[in-house]
Amino acid sequence: MSNAALQYAATHTDQHLEHLKELIRIPSISGMSVHHPDVRRAAEWLANHLNTCIGFTNARVVEGIALPMVYAERLIDPAKPTVLVYGHFDVQPIDPIELWNTVPFEPTLVGDNLYARGAVDDKGPTMAALKALESLLATDGLHVNIKVLLEGEEESGGESISDYVAKHPTELACDYVLILDTGMVGKDIPTITHSLRGITYVEITAHGAAGDLHSGGYGGIAPNPLQALAWVLADLKGRDGRINLPGLYEMVRPLTPADKAILDRQSAERGPDMLAAAGLTSFPGEHQYSAMERMTSRPTFEVHGIIGGFIGEGSKTVIPAEAKAKVSLRLAPGQNSVKVFDILKQRVSELAPEGVTMEVVWLNGGEPLLLPLDAPVLKIAAAAYGAEFAAPVEYVRGGGSIPVAALFDSTLHAPSVMLGFGLPDDNVHAPNEKFHLPYYYAAIRSCIRFLTALGA
Ligand code: BES
Ligand code: MN
Ligand code: MN
Repeated sequence: MSNAALQYAATHTDQHLEHLKELIRIPSISGMSVHHPDVRRAAEWLANHLNTCIGFTNARVVEGIALPMVYAERLIDPAKPTVLVYGHFDVQPIDPIELWNTVPFEPTLVGDNLYARGAVDDKGPTMAALKALESLLATDGLHVNIKVLLEGEEESGGESISDYVAKHPTELACDYVLILDTGMVGKDIPTITHSLRGITYVEITAHGAAGDLHSGGYGGIAPNPLQALAWVLADLKGRDGRINLPGLYEMVRPLTPADKAILDRQSAERGPDMLAAAGLTSFPGEHQYSAMERMTSRPTFEVHGIIGGFIGEGSKTVIPAEAKAKVSLRLAPGQNSVKVFDILKQRVSELAPEGVTMEVVWLNGGEPLLLPLDAPVLKIAAAAYGAEFAAPVEYVRGGGSIPVAALFDSTLHAPSVMLGFGLPDDNVHAPNEKFHLPYYYAAIRSCIRFLTALGA
């Protein structure tokens, strides 16, 4: 099957690695406005690479409402299926920088691992999908229609691509979406993700007096916005892990006993390793649900950061005028990010104590996705991908989010095929991110086999 393309991939491993390194060297951090020119440079690099190296002629940078995307297509035969290849070329920030053992944007090979920010999330896997296309196009082996849509804003909520997909359903019409942006449950265990959580990410600001006050002059009579914020955050989630938002859980799609059994098994298999890897002795919270159910199919409420008042050296007797928190909820299948935002905003304003006003500002969001496990395309994908590994393919629900992914389902009516190439210890979003390089080549071959099988 498509031996010529596999052969091409085998004889071009060095170039394929060099090209990945070039892309990684562009510090395309979407969350930092000083790096937005780099996000654009990465888009330009990719559009150029698609045209000069991968084999497209019409690749272009597409402007978004915030950051740019890249689009290319090769339509060969309307009778053949159309696959939309999705990936993201933006990355997370690199701090804390002092914990890196190598230079974050200088890809460094240590043994089998390529260390760099973006190596596995998501430049390596995205480039692998493109290198599969290159291998097929260079050998006359492409027998499906291809649309490539890459974004530079995934790590910041994907607002531009969500807007673009909503507005261009005809241009983006496809039968399947191929996404290489998820993980494997363990080394050499091929893992197909069939569910993602959604997210509602907000900033909560508590306002008290017009300015900071002397805590002697006003202590005992003035409201304290930091204290108010602490009360409200504590009210929103109990120590039992229950989130106190009216109607929140009613939206969660219930799991069947069969779904639960899978998650129970996976919890037994992976729970102890996940505990150890995190340096924990227990997973506090909703003990009535299995670890994997809690991690993939229950909503969460997390406080990411709180700032306000005085934290400098020594002591300062002040009642701060303002306090802020960054908070997000991960959403389980069935929930909707805007509805959850509305409920949260309403509840926070009800909980605001006397003298304090609470502002809840939407930062970003995305919808959850749950795809049926019996889709025929998954069988084809599992065979193509599973051929790389001795272990059988594991099907999992993911705990993370790809904000645009649900739109591929709801707007384009195309199921996403999510093949994982990230390892649990790849340090995604953390210092010393790495990509296990043998998986770069395995990903290229898997995509070659998958696209070949779809076209046959
Ligand atoms: N690749 C991840 C998403 C992911 C991780 C899916 C693990 C499945 C398993 C993606 O790059 C990511 O980090 N997404 C963000 C989105 C957020 C910033 C809106 C996330 O999940 O935090
Ligand atoms: Mn990613
Ligand atoms: Mn990420």
